[in-house]
Amino acid sequence: MLILTFALGVLSLASAALASPWVTNSGPTTPFEALISAEYKTAWLIDSQNYTALGEVFTDDIIYDSTDLGAYGGRAEGLEAAASALRALGNGARVSHLVTNTLVLDAITPKKWRVLTYITWSRWVDGALDDITKTWRIFYRCDDIWVIQDGVWKLQYSKVLNMGYGAEAPYYGEKN
Ligand SMILES: *[C@@H]1O[C@H](CO)[C@@H](O)[C@H](O)[C@H]1NC(C)=O
Repeated sequence: MLILTFALGVLSLASAALASPWVTNSGPTTPFEALISAEYKTAWLIDSQNYTALGEVFTDDIIYDSTDLGAYGGRAEGLEAAASALRALGNGARVSHLVTNTLVLDAITPKKWRVLTYITWSRWVDGALDDITKTWRIFYRCDDIWVIQDGVWKLQYSKVLNMGYGAEAPYYGEKN
C-alpha cells in the first residue's frame, strides 16, 4: 500500500510537471526566444570546444572584432578564421561564456537585428591559474548583427567592447 501510494505520488508529480506552464517541449516560440537560444548555443559550442559546428551559429561572412580587448582580442573575417581563433583560445584551456542582458537595439528588418549583449568570459589553464596571460576573466559587451539564414539566427557581425579595465585575475587563494 505504501509502495502504491508512493507510486501514485510520483505519477501526480510527473503530471503536475507536464501541466506546469514552466515546462514545455515546444522550444523557442518567438524570434526573440530563438535569438536567445542562438546566443546560448553559440556559448555552448565554444565552451564545449565544438568548433566544427560553429557554422550553425555564425554566417560564412562573419566579422568578429574584439580588438578593443588588446592582447586578449583580435579581428577575424569569415567563419574559418573565427573558428580557428576560438580554437586557439580553447587549446589546453577551459572556457566559459556567460551570456546576459540581451537588448535588441534595432530590428533593422524582421531577419536582421542589432543586438547588445553582456558576456562574462572566463578562461582557465590548469597549472597556470595565477598566470594572467593564461587564466583570466573579462567583462565585455557585444554590439552585434544577427541575421536569420536557413531559418535560424546566425551572428554576422560582432563588435566587442571592454566593460571593465581589461583582464582580471581570478583569485584562488593560497596554493598548496
Ligand atoms: C557539436 O554540435 C552539434 C550540433 O549542434 C552536435 O550535433 C554534436 O553532437 C556536437 N558534437 C560534440 C562532439 O559535442
